[in-house]
Amino acid sequence: MATGRQTEIVALRAEVRRHEHLYYVLDAPEISDADYDALMRRLAALEREHPEYADPDSPTRRVGGAPREGFVKRRHSTAMLSLDNALNEGELRDFDRRVRELLGSEEYAYTAELKLDGLSLALRYESGSLALAVTRGDGLEGEDVTENARTIRSVPLRTEARWPSFEVRGEVVMPWAAFRKLNEERAAAGLPLYANPRNSAAGSLRVLDPSITGARTLDFYAYFLLVDGRAPLDSHWACLEELQKLGFKVNPNKARLGGVDELYNWCGQWDAQRDALPYEIDGVVAKVDRLEQQDRLGWTAKFPRWAIAYKFAARQAETVLEDIHIQVGRTGALTPVAKLRPVAVGGVTVSNATLHNEEEIARLDLAIGDTVVVERSGDVIPKVVAVKARPEGRRPFTMPVECPVCGSEVVRAEGEVARRCLNTNCPARLRESILHFASRGVMDIDGLGESIVDELMARGLLRSVADLYQLTAEQLAPLELKGEKNTRKLGEKSAAKIMAEIDASRRRPMPRLVSGLGIAFVGERTAVVLAEHLGSMDALMQASPERLQAIPEVGPKVAESIRRFFGEPHNLELVERLRGAGLQFSHDAPARPAAGPFTGMTFVLTGTLPTLTRDEAKAKIEAAGGKVTGSVSRKTTVVVAGEEAGSKLDKARELNIEIWDEDALSERLLTQE
Ligand code: IVH
Repeated sequence: MATGRQTEIVALRAEVRRHEHLYYVLDAPEISDADYDALMRRLAALEREHPEYADPDSPTRRVGGAPREGFVKRRHSTAMLSLDNALNEGELRDFDRRVRELLGSEEYAYTAELKLDGLSLALRYESGSLALAVTRGDGLEGEDVTENARTIRSVPLRTEARWPSFEVRGEVVMPWAAFRKLNEERAAAGLPLYANPRNSAAGSLRVLDPSITGARTLDFYAYFLLVDGRAPLDSHWACLEELQKLGFKVNPNKARLGGVDELYNWCGQWDAQRDALPYEIDGVVAKVDRLEQQDRLGWTAKFPRWAIAYKFAARQAETVLEDIHIQVGRTGALTPVAKLRPVAVGGVTVSNATLHNEEEIARLDLAIGDTVVVERSGDVIPKVVAVKARPEGRRPFTMPVECPVCGSEVVRAEGEVARRCLNTNCPARLRESILHFASRGVMDIDGLGESIVDELMARGLLRSVADLYQLTAEQLAPLELKGEKNTRKLGEKSAAKIMAEIDASRRRPMPRLVSGLGIAFVGERTAVVLAEHLGSMDALMQASPERLQAIPEVGPKVAESIRRFFGEPHNLELVERLRGAGLQFSHDAPARPAAGPFTGMTFVLTGTLPTLTRDEAKAKIEAAGGKVTGSVSRKTTVVVAGEEAGSKLDKARELNIEIWDEDALSERLLTQE
């Protein structure tokens, strides 16, 4: 018989699992990170007290495996093959023609999905538990990476399925944010950088120590469900829906399309939008939807005849490295920047590319005059990935020993790759700090761009971030802004607007301010965690390294960096001036949903609303007691749809869910106030 304790442990596991699914799969958390951590800690404590109720699938057991000597090879249940490519419209239409010829006059539909740029992985579940995870390998045989796959939070360790044994195949990806963070850390540690998120996802999944995989944020998107080696339902679309029901993350950007015209159109839309996605895609995958038709189309020796990968044009080009300039960042780090002969890369003209640090220049064996390959991927800054030709007379580059902006001595600290200008008053550092402080996602001071900051600094009106809060409209209005073609005055209207923006920034929540301070290794997410655990700026300023490291996700490096920051007198002075300017110095953990007219209602937002941003609409709904989630299901009460709403709107119609536009939302909010 289950004891009270056992029941509690089982219930707590289910609760943690539910929140894991809400956070990592649906992207719609219901509780704060701090509350989630508290649940997890309670579960871990109970499990320690009661080893007799251990469960290998407990959410506490994601990272547990010890490092191994090597990977064991495993044979796939059925071959994991890849897809034939279509590199342009003609090839896509050729594929469709072959499909039509083989199906005769029958109707058919395509399920179109994004082609995620990661690596494919097969997950085998036995009696509801994740039993085995195998990489694609050569398609017949891959490597057993089960321990590592368990650390990916969007991979369910347990799922309720009606089949005793089944397999899920999908793509492991590293989102841009995690990729950039990883490379920044590697650059700081002097390790070679990953060229793209696919390589870093592969590198992270195939490390022998699962705790490393766990520390690198990977995500898993499912696209195949197999029972006894084949899809158990009669359409691919139905399989995707089933996967979602089973708790897997299925990419929401998918569509069922009636023919090749619609398909080509969909491909074009995603080609244009790919930079807006938080992960890299390199094309679109289209599959004939009905399984029975797939069966009749069959396979060639290498590929299915019922699916195709439409590949976007590569975002690489060759050009000449004309010079190397040095940029000084807000932490004082000197970054070499490639000055390139302008070249079109994936529709954008590129004339600058980052070279990261001097070791990267050495690794590439790069010199001025070389012909290089530049790559622009996603929203990252273009980079030089290889050298194509090294002409005679090429000029080798050496890093300066003085800051090119203020002339101070440049120092390379032990164990660091970057050389830094240590002058905290270096104008280049100040400029970058102010731009960072004002940027989106930090203090959001709209309109305070590079040219205004440059002008204000030139006039001696901005010597510190805190000076922003002493500016007046009279000082701003006469600023002369140099545009590409002409110089214009900022004017009273724009000045008043910027003043209002600066004023509004006083009310940004404390985590924004913390990330705005520019403490090394403290980004947006760490700032939230710090604020949620410590509650105030004063607590953060006074926290000992031990107190800081007791906070989940805060390691010795972050703790040390925070201590060093608040150990500097001029940083303390800055913080005091910001306090005096009325900025937010305390933080309440996010309140439980407020009670209000929308209490008990679940909303999904889709498309672009005419006036509200997604965050604003979400905040309004939550303030009225409603909940906002990421995907439409039977539990959704209302879908708020704007311009270019996609599959969520279709789904809402299919499920007969109420649909509002922004006006309807604003009206309800008003009438209910
Ligand atoms: S379906 C029979 N769907 O692209 C092979 N693949 O060559 C079926 N990929 O190796 C693969 N996103 O690694 C499929 N939505 C998606 C995908 C996808 C990315 C990768 C996968 C595969 C390669 C296709």
